[in-house]
Amino acid sequence: MTTEHTHPETHLDVAPHEAEELEPGSTSAGAHGPIYRDVTPEQEVVEQALVDTVIASFDACEDPRLKELMVSLVRHLHSFIREVRLTEEEWGTAIEFLTKAGHITDDVRQEFILLSDTLGASMQTINVNNVAYRGATEATVFGPFFVEDAPEIELGDDMAFGAPGEPCWVEGTVTDTDGNPLSGARIEVWEADEDGLYDVQYDAGKRAARAHLFSDAEGGYRFWGLTPTPYPIPDDGPVGKMLDAVGRSPLRASHLHFMVSHEGMRTLVTHIFPTGDPIGRKDTVFGVKDSLIKEFPQQPAGTPTPDGRALDGTWSRVRFDIVLAPAGV
Ligand code: BEZ
Ligand code: FE
Repeated sequence: MTTEHTHPETHLDVAPHEAEELEPGSTSAGAHGPIYRDVTPEQEVVEQALVDTVIASFDACEDPRLKELMVSLVRHLHSFIREVRLTEEEWGTAIEFLTKAGHITDDVRQEFILLSDTLGASMQTINVNNVAYRGATEATVFGPFFVEDAPEIELGDDMAFGAPGEPCWVEGTVTDTDGNPLSGARIEVWEADEDGLYDVQYDAGKRAARAHLFSDAEGGYRFWGLTPTPYPIPDDGPVGKMLDAVGRSPLRASHLHFMVSHEGMRTLVTHIFPTGDPIGRKDTVFGVKDSLIKEFPQQPAGTPTPDGRALDGTWSRVRFDIVLAPAGV
């Protein structure tokens, strides 16, 4: 199909001599913006005029950043609607989807974070805001299961607090990008149990498999946790239905969450992922980065533990050296 482009100058998407063959379902970014399929010049004028009017409605906005965000949002949203030739029924379905996401959301269940995560929006925002800096540890998704009031533990203590799973000895250091130890770094850790559930999914007030601790004078830290196992994100709501409809799994790669903060340093939100995980790169929230995949060697029953703890069964261990970037980079 050949599209004709005889738009008035003000709304010209592409000069007539630049017109291209467009496949159904495709768009082309010409020098003056996208060309939408099956759209007559008259229709193009109507659609573009609305975009211009909506954008102009922000002219009086006194907050330049808010104005930039709103104008760009409108531009991209309208571009999406025009590119896919969104039907009114489809728009209705989208509104219904968002309404359901709102209804299922409460203090513990956050469907909008799940939506952002499963569309890669969380991961992209993290990429934009955590630029690579001289070997600093990479960041990944926060997820919806962090709580502010996790108990404090001493170095070497067990953060599982009775949550089921194979014990895992976790140790490492916190340093800056020159290798200087960062003592007193606050390390928040949280993870799902071996049944794939976080404490708060059992009961909003329950606290297990989460804690915070502080690095020692040499920047060292150590604690007992659980060997991470794969688990599905909560998929009994609209996001789960969306994943099912598009043929995607709700499973996350096995992981242990960290949030590490220290004065003067960029706060790091990340996880570590065991090597050989069956989900790996198919992580439904796109959170896996190669640098965060670590060996968690399993220790046979009876292997002496680093701190003399008596354990009947197998246990695992992992080393995770954390490098913080300076704040403001
Ligand atoms: C999590 O790791 O806890 C998580 C992350 C994104 C969505 C759901 C759960
Ligand atoms: Fe998680």
